Amino acid sequence: MQNAINAISSQLGGENFEKCTFSSPVNKSGELHSVIINKVSNSSEIKVELRLQKHNDIKTILKKDFIERDLPEYLQQFKQCLIRSESSETQILLNKKLKSKILTKSLEKNETNKNHNRQKNYLIPDGEVCPFLIAIGVMDNGGRVKSNHYKKFRQINRFLELVDDLYKAPDIKEFHAVDFGCGKSYLTFALYHYFKNIKKIKIKITGIDLKQEVIDHCNKIAVNLSFDQLHFAHGFIHNFKTDDPVDFVVTLHACDTATDDAILFSLRHHAKQMMFVPCCQHELNNQLKNDESAILLKHGIFRDRMTALVTDTMRTQLLEVCGYKVQSMEFISLEHTAKNILLRCSKVTRDKKQTDESLSKYRDFKKQWNINPYLEKQLLIEKIIEA
Ligand SMILES: C[S@@+](CC[C@H](N)C(=O)[O-])C[C@H]1O[C@@H](n2cnc3c(N)ncnc32)[C@H](O)[C@@H]1O
Repeated sequence: MQNAINAISSQLGGENFEKCTFSSPVNKSGELHSVIINKVSNSSEIKVELRLQKHNDIKTILKKDFIERDLPEYLQQFKQCLIRSESSETQILLNKKLKSKILTKSLEKNETNKNHNRQKNYLIPDGEVCPFLIAIGVMDNGGRVKSNHYKKFRQINRFLELVDDLYKAPDIKEFHAVDFGCGKSYLTFALYHYFKNIKKIKIKITGIDLKQEVIDHCNKIAVNLSFDQLHFAHGFIHNFKTDDPVDFVVTLHACDTATDDAILFSLRHHAKQMMFVPCCQHELNNQLKNDESAILLKHGIFRDRMTALVTDTMRTQLLEVCGYKVQSMEFISLEHTAKNILLRCSKVTRDKKQTDESLSKYRDFKKQWNINPYLEKQLLIEKIIEA
């Protein structure tokens, strides 16, 4: 473990340190899911975010205290640690005996990628000043994407390409979108920029997140950018109410059943389009049972992946029952994030026969996997689908 302590402390102490994530908890059913450490402007301190089952705890502490007091503890609680600096990425894997394997890769290749991206026809090009990208720290004042923000830059452009497919020739002049679990809102700002500045549509966007500090931060940025129809509000997805019509709903990496709450909101408001990138599908993990494929569920890692697939299949089928065409696709390459499946939904017209067929297929699937999902229960309670 000492090797891991040395590797992490030297990175945390370095000027180029950016972020460190402890993940894969040894105790999977414990309270603590992950720990994320970010740099702060005062270089002797770091921001430590504990991601717990029901809420997150954020505190700013001295690096020195973290290294002496917390680091050895987290190395015993987590199997993985990923540290990013401006120029490298180090992955530390710990086994049960706390022996570590340390893998470091240089991020220099971004320079090559940069040239490649310049030639690519991105909706937001590298090399052209884009105020919102500067405000969120992805671009420098000269319009060049910062080398350590290339992944984010590509993700933003990929997201906009997928939105652009839906709105290539929009016959709309006004538009209200909601982004649930917006977090730091890179993609919410991108969405606003896309509709307002590229498509020239009168847009109103509301971002919702349960963390007050990110909401305050994002509202400040929106004001500074004069994005006057972009507002962020603090709260849980399931509590959010609006009297405005809602055209488009987005959730990107909202955890567990938060995606289902966003689906329910969309259905209640008859949203015309939605995009969901689900994350951490825990709800059905313990329910999943399939006698004919029991061996598939024997190993934890296969069960986790199967749970994610069954959860998204269930969501897709229920959305079809509710009158949406659903396309599933990769959001961005797996190199960037493992939470990678995007469900893109558009309202279509379906007759009763088609709806009944979809519902009957859903019920067969539900029986096959022995599941009783939250989404279906809510749809029945709210009478959005028939019993
Ligand atoms: C992984 S972050 C993703 C942030 C952003 N959408 C992105 O893709 O960069 C998930 C965010 O969803 C928020 N969140 C999770 N569950 C939520 C809920 N039920 N209601 C509101 N926000 C939620 C978290 O606070 C967190 O900021």
